[in-house]
Amino acid sequence: MRVLVVGSGGREHALCWAIRQSPLCQRLFCAPGNAGIAVEALCVPIAVTEHKKLVAFAQDAAIDLVVVGPESPLINGLADQMAAAGIRCFGPSAQAAFLEGSKGFMKDLLVRYGIPTAEYGRFRTPATAKAFIRAWDRPIVVKADGLAAGKGVRLCRTLAEAELAIDTVMVQRAFGSAGDAVVVEALLEGEEISFFALVDGIEALPLTGVQDHKALREGDRGPNTGGMGAYSPPTVLTPVLERDIMTRIILPTVRGMADVGRPFRGVLFAGVILTDDGPRVLEFNVRFGDPECQALIMRLQSDLLQILLSVCDGRLSSVAIDWYEHAALTVVMAARGYPGPFSRGSEIRGLERVMDLPDVKVFHGGTRQDATGRFFSDGGRVLGITATGPTVAEAQARAYAIVQKIDWPEGFYRRDIGWRTVRHSGTTRALQDSP
Ligand code: GLY
Repeated sequence: MRVLVVGSGGREHALCWAIRQSPLCQRLFCAPGNAGIAVEALCVPIAVTEHKKLVAFAQDAAIDLVVVGPESPLINGLADQMAAAGIRCFGPSAQAAFLEGSKGFMKDLLVRYGIPTAEYGRFRTPATAKAFIRAWDRPIVVKADGLAAGKGVRLCRTLAEAELAIDTVMVQRAFGSAGDAVVVEALLEGEEISFFALVDGIEALPLTGVQDHKALREGDRGPNTGGMGAYSPPTVLTPVLERDIMTRIILPTVRGMADVGRPFRGVLFAGVILTDDGPRVLEFNVRFGDPECQALIMRLQSDLLQILLSVCDGRLSSVAIDWYEHAALTVVMAARGYPGPFSRGSEIRGLERVMDLPDVKVFHGGTRQDATGRFFSDGGRVLGITATGPTVAEAQARAYAIVQKIDWPEGFYRRDIGWRTVRHSGTTRALQDSP
């Protein structure tokens, strides 16, 4: 088969790495890819926004399957355009991707189908949103309705913080048209997990759970990022909880989406918070998480390409997915300044020392390579050092040992990825070794 992966981050590197291992995969392309992805796939210089060019390339290159990594091309209809050109595509239609494209739509759907989530209000003007929070008088979360690259969510414990958040989104328009409306919801307390399930329109099959660290700094403090690290499996995800999430969250959502004329096909990513009253949905995404995908892929034993095809072809009920027993953990190395302004183009040394080690994979999130083979940063989240081990603690120790070998003074990383799970097994060597 000839496969095209769309995207250029660590998630797409992980997808390419796994797809390339499939005996079904004859040629693998990635648009636009990055320097790490170029080891697995032939990179094609077409941006994820250039849908016409992507479709034309897929036709010319006789692509059998397109796999779309990020949300924005899905929300903007790339899967529909590929389908219209007769090309099989993994990822939901624009209608179904609206589940991630509008937080208000998502919340209304959850309530309509009795799926547990936080109480909320939806507002189109700052005045009505502020009147609501004044009357409510409790810790809340303000969310821009549309896509804001993970930055449109503010946790507010005081009225002043909440009013500032509404002004930032709706008056200063920090996220552009994503702030045409806001969702204001009750702030829930509990551990969060990212839960992934495959959906073929009708059937849903659980993948697994991952925990990521969205906050910039150790101890899960500081501003939100796209994710500074991830690990799987989380200790909190018991088989009972997984069944509960499937029964009370994933399956009713799949039925609800079909019922409202937006059947979902692809990977459904539920951001779930584990409250004292049980799991509740914080958000839905319509693609794999980044960096969750990097950790998840390292645990997947089954052939990813066959799995993706079964989703596209509506054959999910005939699929069984095997997982390795081991845990996996990803430490993101980011450019200094991220998630604010950062510079590109600093040299990263030492990558050749860590390329072929057992139980370790360095997924590139934003790199380029010059003609002499040197690597340079080319993004905010630049590398995802991913290691496996019998436990999360051992995977953590391995991942941080590799981080030490990478010579990139302009980069930084969090030193406590996996702490929630690792705290159960005591202080780790990785944490003691960190600078
Ligand atoms: N790591 C969170 C996300 O991919 O949305």
